[in-house]
Amino acid sequence: MSEIERVPTGIKGFDDLVGGGFPRGSIILVAGVAGAGKSIFGMQYLYYGAEFCGEPGILIVVEESAQSHRETARLLGMNFSRLEEEGKVVILDIGAIRKKIGMEESTIPGLWDIAEIVEKLTKKLSAKRLVIDSLTALTFKYESLAKMRIDMFRLFSKLKALGLTSLVLTELEEGKPSISRYGMEDFLVDGIVILGRERVGSHYRRWIAVPKMRHTKHSLELVLMDITDEGIVVYKEAPMV
Ligand SMILES: Nc1ncnc2c1ncn2[C@@H]1O[C@H](COP(=O)(O)OP(=O)(O)O)[C@@H](O)[C@H]1O
Ligand SMILES: [Mg+2]
Repeated sequence: MSEIERVPTGIKGFDDLVGGGFPRGSIILVAGVAGAGKSIFGMQYLYYGAEFCGEPGILIVVEESAQSHRETARLLGMNFSRLEEEGKVVILDIGAIRKKIGMEESTIPGLWDIAEIVEKLTKKLSAKRLVIDSLTALTFKYESLAKMRIDMFRLFSKLKALGLTSLVLTELEEGKPSISRYGMEDFLVDGIVILGRERVGSHYRRWIAVPKMRHTKHSLELVLMDITDEGIVVYKEAPMV
């Protein structure tokens, strides 16, 4: 049986959980509550690809600004400004663009609205990696779940057609056990990574889990992780008990 191509994340300890990386061309949901480390996970993935794998990347930010993302990354030793100058990464700040072109605050962008610009940028950069931070922020305009599902499916199909390996970050609500906010994202993606946090006595412990990854033999354990000054580190030898 021939092996499928893997896209390494470079996140310490993580790639071993998923057979060396994400399947090339897949769409991965990265879900977690606020502060779980989703944005950092996404930026490490892009940084590693652009800096060490010759794989340019696109970061789409919707709510938190591009500048705030750059700053979070810089404090973790990742210089996104340089990668942007070198044309290896583009950060597309949807909020800033809307302001610039005078769009009203009340016109909320939807999932399909980003498709055209992603297509253009992918071709311009020869991009291989994409992170959408966040999918949740692009779902508020929908009045019906059916319409949201149609747009989500169209967007994901487009990303695949472009050959991108994409991470879509979604915000989970604290205390709610469901992985999927709208009961559809988990079916439409190829893989799911959950970043979690659990209270143990007087402190929280961070964990990571991979409940779904197509074409991959993966563990179903919650594995301890931490966010250090080098970013996310997964302690694969240390499952939560
Ligand atoms: N420089 C840093 N060193 C250690 N931990 C950090 C650093 N920067 C951020 N963190 C941790 O990461 C968390 C935010 O991660 P982030 O990826 O922005 O979360 P999310 O996108 O899931 O809301 C912070 O609440 C903090 O606990
Ligand atoms: Mg975030």
